[in-house]
Amino acid sequence: MAERKQFRAIKGTRDILPPDSSLWNWFERAAREVFESYNFGEIRLPIFENTDLFARSIGEETDVVSKEMFAFYDPFTPDELYWKSLEHSLSVKPLEGESQAAWLAKVRQEFEKRPKGEVLSLRPEATASVCRAYIEHGMQTLPGNVKLYYIGPMFRRERPQKGRYRQFYQIGAEVLGQSDAPAIDAEVLEMLSVFFARVGLTRTMLYVNSIGDKNCRPQYVELLREELRKVKDQLREDSQRRIETNPLRVLDSKVPEEQPIIEKLPRISDHLCEACREHFAKLKDELKLRNIRYEENWRLVRGLDYYTRTTFEVTAEGLGSQNAVCGGGRYDGLVELLGGPPTKGIGFAIGSDRAILSIQEGGKAPALGGLSVFTAWMGAPAYLAAVSIARKLRGAGVSVELPPEELKFKKALGLADKLGARYALIIGEDEVAAGTFTLKRLADADQRKFSEPELLEYLESERRGT
Ligand code: HAM
Repeated sequence: MAERKQFRAIKGTRDILPPDSSLWNWFERAAREVFESYNFGEIRLPIFENTDLFARSIGEETDVVSKEMFAFYDPFTPDELYWKSLEHSLSVKPLEGESQAAWLAKVRQEFEKRPKGEVLSLRPEATASVCRAYIEHGMQTLPGNVKLYYIGPMFRRERPQKGRYRQFYQIGAEVLGQSDAPAIDAEVLEMLSVFFARVGLTRTMLYVNSIGDKNCRPQYVELLREELRKVKDQLREDSQRRIETNPLRVLDSKVPEEQPIIEKLPRISDHLCEACREHFAKLKDELKLRNIRYEENWRLVRGLDYYTRTTFEVTAEGLGSQNAVCGGGRYDGLVELLGGPPTKGIGFAIGSDRAILSIQEGGKAPALGGLSVFTAWMGAPAYLAAVSIARKLRGAGVSVELPPEELKFKKALGLADKLGARYALIIGEDEVAAGTFTLKRLADADQRKFSEPELLEYLESERRGT
């Protein structure tokens, strides 16, 4: 007998059930509406890609690539299957004038030549995929800037905790093209703030920074490295290692003892080249012009290597330590790094799990639809009327529950109540005889009789009003 086994969702993954899923749909619908009003179009991307795409874009030394990717080897044709098909062809088609051994040796030679598998990864983020798609589809020939958004799951093998999952969800947007005008950065941030206001995510803080470009950042990084070497003994192991691998990431440290040391380090804002300084100044002017509140944070370096110049993050309340609900920035040169034409890029990704949690914790989640009508029918003739009216009401967009088996009147009303229905639609012998319906509002037991057209009109107009 097979062992009894209870399956559970894998650590760091979860099911999103009704009614929460309605809230998720509402949240994603709002993003689509806002982003499309800024002329962004949706891109649907694969869930897995070649691992090298992520390694090259995000950086080999980053936590995401070095520790957190769900990578797997895809051998194209599983060896066993391959051999089975060979054996099969040998058994049905012996070769003339050739020994089986000679044939087999030839086959083996062919087998060794077969395409080797490749290492794939579940996507830990989607900016790399967007750039890959931009190149693959020659989007640089499209008119104007290419403005894309995406919604979907991402995967990182992180230690799960509140607001941190191994399968989490992002809503992201990217602008790719020839221009790096600061107005693009500002418009992206405006769109983000319009979206957050729309979904009631108001207790947020936007932090911005510029981390320079290839002209000024290398010198700054070297200076930072030299300064860090001087205080190496006072740093923890992680930071000590990063002095050599990626000194900027030391600025990200949350270790309390390291904070006073980090505060005294040289700041990138004092070491930007003229062009980067000007770009950042213009961005700040643009943000003021658009009434977008922000704070400068010189330590905002982000955990992915592709960023240049503008970086930003939004934090929200009610989330504990995992309080970043959105991160983003410029990545001019990433498309080129992946073998495409010189291209500028900027974008962001919102962590939906955290954003929705913060909306819920702030008490701002809207009351969404839910069940409107529970049909309480009694007797076979009433059942016919119930099936017919249920279909018509559903056609008019009203949410209707039709019990598949006859229930006693009290039981039907009890179930309607438990399901959270607004109304019970009562159809009994009297109603069938008179060709009417009795609609009972469950909140206050107010009860009225309707003809079919009246009922449809009443419930439809009520639906539009809510
Ligand atoms: P990121 O900062 O790695 O940026 O992720 C963006 C957001 O995704 C985070 O602020 C957070 O809300 C959410 N997030 C990340 N990891 C987890 C997790 N394990 N559990 C729950 N939520 C998480 C990016 O991914 C970049 N691709 C953003 C970007 C787009 N930059 C330019 N364009």
